[in-house]
Amino acid sequence: KNIKLIEVPSEIGAGTRGASLGIEAIKIAALDFMSNFFIHFPSDRIPVENKLLYEPIESPYAKRIKGIASMYDKVSKSVSETMKSNFFPVVLSGDHSIAGATIAGIKIAKPKSKLGVIWIDAHADLHTPYTTPSGNMHGMPLSLSINEDNIESAVHELDPETAKMWNGLKNLGKIAPKVLPEDIVFIALRDFEKEEKALIDKYGIKVITTKEVRSKGPENIVRAVTRYLSDCTDIYVSFDVDSLDSSISKGTGTPVNNGLREREAEDLVSKFMQNRKVCCFELTEVNPTLDKENLMAEIAFNILQRSVNVLMYS
Ligand code: ARG
Ligand code: MN
Ligand code: MN
Ligand code: MN
Repeated sequence: KNIKLIEVPSEIGAGTRGASLGIEAIKIAALDFMSNFFIHFPSDRIPVENKLLYEPIESPYAKRIKGIASMYDKVSKSVSETMKSNFFPVVLSGDHSIAGATIAGIKIAKPKSKLGVIWIDAHADLHTPYTTPSGNMHGMPLSLSINEDNIESAVHELDPETAKMWNGLKNLGKIAPKVLPEDIVFIALRDFEKEEKALIDKYGIKVITTKEVRSKGPENIVRAVTRYLSDCTDIYVSFDVDSLDSSISKGTGTPVNNGLREREAEDLVSKFMQNRKVCCFELTEVNPTLDKENLMAEIAFNILQRSVNVLMYS
């Protein structure tokens, strides 16, 4: 496959500052490993809206949603054009809100696809502006991709402007839903709120715990997930580094214990990349300002390099 890197140094979707430096930190890790990885591939760097961090919050339940919407337009366009020109998009994003734009881009390029999503993350990212505990939009990309408001669990009322912007995100590319809940698989999920749990239960979304990864081994997990998504035509793999255990993921905004080991994550992701249906990979949420010795970025780089290696030769 021909790889194209799409770099999105976003951080307005996160609640902790610093994720916009994640991509640079991964590049520094590559240099420290004496790797010339980053000069091998064409890349598209998307302008982000981080200047909004200096302005007052207009929409407390969907913080900086206008900036998110403007990034969604650009990222979805870049992803769809990359795919249409027969390149495989590897998205490096600052915060996970961008995944909703990546999914939109895939669906714009392949409107008829039945898209499976493998979400490797401590979190479900299934909140909506009606249920969010934080207002941070990196907790919402999956709900907007399945066209969900979760009104049943609503705890906030939205102003009309925010509601309109939210509906715009859900309908980006005029395709909604873009993903069905039955085509989502969570891996290493372990930190979610009751409103998200209600959706997981309501739709019976597939969850694979860290414990299962450990007892069955990455290879068997990959086989089971591939079988579970066998009626999907295409698959997107989204890797949030907080899926890794908090002992090795200090360099991310929302670390959680009982997560994956480095080797488990590397084996999982690189084995998923062997699947011909996989059409896009995203790596996100590295925040070097929270870290020591750039450890998180080094782990992220190892996962990225091994995965891209598999993609190049398949
Ligand atoms: N569920 C929490 C929230 O909505 C945390 C989300 C963390 N998401 C992430 N992509 N790191 O605020
Ligand atoms: Mn996430
Ligand atoms: Mn997460
Ligand atoms: Mn199915």
